[in-house]
Amino acid sequence: MPIADAALKLPHRPLGRGGPSVSEIGFGGWGIGKSMWGRTDDRESMDSLRAALECGIDYFDTAYAYGRGHSERLIARALKETGARATVSTKVPPQNMEWPGHPRARLAHVFSPEWVRLGAERSLRNLGVDSLDLLQFHVWRDEWLKDPLWPELAETMRALKAEGKVKRWGASLNNDDPESGVELVRTGLIDSVQVLFNIFDQRAADRLLPLCRERGVGVVARCPFDEGGLTGTLTRETRFEPEDFRAHYFGGERLAETVARADRLTVAVVGPKAETLAQAALKFCLSFDAVATVIPGMRRATHVRSNARAADGRYFDARELAELAKHRWVRDFYL
Ligand SMILES: NC(=O)c1ccc[n+]([C@@H]2O[C@H](COP(=O)([O-])OP(=O)(O)OC[C@H]3O[C@@H](n4cnc5c(N)ncnc54)[C@H](OP(=O)(O)O)[C@@H]3O)[C@@H](O)[C@H]2O)c1
Repeated sequence: MPIADAALKLPHRPLGRGGPSVSEIGFGGWGIGKSMWGRTDDRESMDSLRAALECGIDYFDTAYAYGRGHSERLIARALKETGARATVSTKVPPQNMEWPGHPRARLAHVFSPEWVRLGAERSLRNLGVDSLDLLQFHVWRDEWLKDPLWPELAETMRALKAEGKVKRWGASLNNDDPESGVELVRTGLIDSVQVLFNIFDQRAADRLLPLCRERGVGVVARCPFDEGGLTGTLTRETRFEPEDFRAHYFGGERLAETVARADRLTVAVVGPKAETLAQAALKFCLSFDAVATVIPGMRRATHVRSNARAADGRYFDARELAELAKHRWVRDFYL
């Protein structure tokens, strides 16, 4: 099947009111950026990107911070080589390069209007386009709305839209605080949010998702696999390279506890709707109609193909979600 027709294969949802139609399974581009994920092979990453396009995936999430534009450039290359069309979201990093965002940080040190404009122009170059489909703040704190610089930043956002350089604005929220952007959503200035949402950390469903649904703001669900904890492939013996951030994320007792919980979860979810825990993890996110797309990170084409199969419209109902709510496990392993 030509790639141009492949998008017909996957179900789509609108990314917010009036937003582009995007495949329910999107592509998370952090790992392919070759930063913080240990050994990563560009050829394998390109195979994954091509496999994604062949499967009908047409939403790709990336960021300048993913290898100083490396992930952006690989995605641009895959689109150019195949001639495929897709919605690509990228992110402008905080100027102080601090994650998570600190409530007392000043906008001048995080997202000054000049820095945001520079970030937009740098991503335009990396992606080889005249207009960014979606530019997200790579971190956000609602406290920044009270910063004296906020009106000027809001003006810059409007100006970049008017100039056609940015079609839509979004924010990627702090890993451990899905509510750190609810006031930003209420400003009406952003079109979408990206939020950590998975079977372990279901907090986004409490307040953020209903608010976004009410306001017509698109939701991109990230880290559906808890960085691997919800794939069912980790064991107590799994070890990560020192340069892979997961050596810390799953360090000490964390790995054993994650594996034990994933084992219990597998028994609970594998059944007629999901063949594997990984499929269940993706279907969990897609069971919420506020979610437009879920973006697993995928450096292997085999992962891409099996993840794309999860978008089959057979998601969890209210009773099944109530069962899954028993597996909530909130913690912040990034710190
Ligand atoms: N602050 C932020 O804005 C922020 C933070 C985190 C993530 N994100 C975005 O969200 C995306 C997703 O999060 P993530 O990549 O951190 O984590 P994730 O999607 O929770 O997990 C990615 C891991 O799952 C593995 N995997 C994927 N499909 C699999 C399958 N079918 N079976 C077994 N393993 C599978 C991947 O392996 P391989 O890589 O080997 O294929 C990778 O190790 C990122 O890529 C990025 O776009 C944004």
